[in-house]
Amino acid sequence: MALEAARAGADVIREAAPRVRSIKWKTKQPADFVSEVDLAAEAAVLGVVRRLAPWAGILAEESGTHTAGSPAAGGANAGIVFVVDPLDGTTNFLHGYPEYAVSVGVVVDAVPTAGVVIDVALNETFTACTGGGAFANGASIHVSAIDDPARSLIGTGFPFSTMDDADTYIRQMERVMRGAAGIRRAGAAALDLAAVAAGRFEAFWETVLSPWDIAAGIVLVREAGGVVTDLAGAPCPVARTGVVAGNAALHPWLLEQLR
Ligand code: IPD
Ligand code: CA
Ligand code: CA
Repeated sequence: MALEAARAGADVIREAAPRVRSIKWKTKQPADFVSEVDLAAEAAVLGVVRRLAPWAGILAEESGTHTAGSPAAGGANAGIVFVVDPLDGTTNFLHGYPEYAVSVGVVVDAVPTAGVVIDVALNETFTACTGGGAFANGASIHVSAIDDPARSLIGTGFPFSTMDDADTYIRQMERVMRGAAGIRRAGAAALDLAAVAAGRFEAFWETVLSPWDIAAGIVLVREAGGVVTDLAGAPCPVARTGVVAGNAALHPWLLEQLR
């Protein structure tokens, strides 16, 4: 269900990409945008979830919380929530920079349990569910085996809307920069987490993310053998939170640099 829903959103984005220069967008808050494509992709994703899982709740970035359908629609089950980012990497998409995704996570009684992230430009589909492993286009993926910080490639997301965390973040970045081989800021958190799961980044951090950025990615990283926590090292909740993800060797190293 999550896969079919995410594919419906990806189809909308893919169809719109060639006419990106004429797409209308507006500012939600400084440097945080929503376009007609975000809204259309979200409608497509939610349409599939409503059809296939009317008993589930939904938390979607652009339209918020939707309660589960009535028992007549299949029986309400408030414990299952689809958490949807219809277009992760909106700024990239609006500039034609090919790093953007659809992310659909399934959270059961507050535990992230299944996740799908589709890299729309590369046509790469990441899937995972608890106990079942993680996959990219159907092939099993694992976090990387690199355990030396000096060989590590670390993903991150910069503060971009409020600059409240900027000073803290710059101090963190300096420490990581001095210890790691490289840092990348690609601009779509769901794909950053997928990159950790696929062993392309040894680790990733961002000081504030939203539930829809991470619900699917948490499952991808854990099922690929990695660790995902908040900035204090506690298991990462599906909430507005800081996030640190990585393989078993580089996660503690990164956490230490951020303290
Ligand atoms: C954003 C991207 C970005 C991250 C931001 C997110 P959006 O999501 O994931 O990489 O730095 O924190 O809000 O707004 O493009 O869906
Ligand atoms: Ca997002
Ligand atoms: Ca989004």
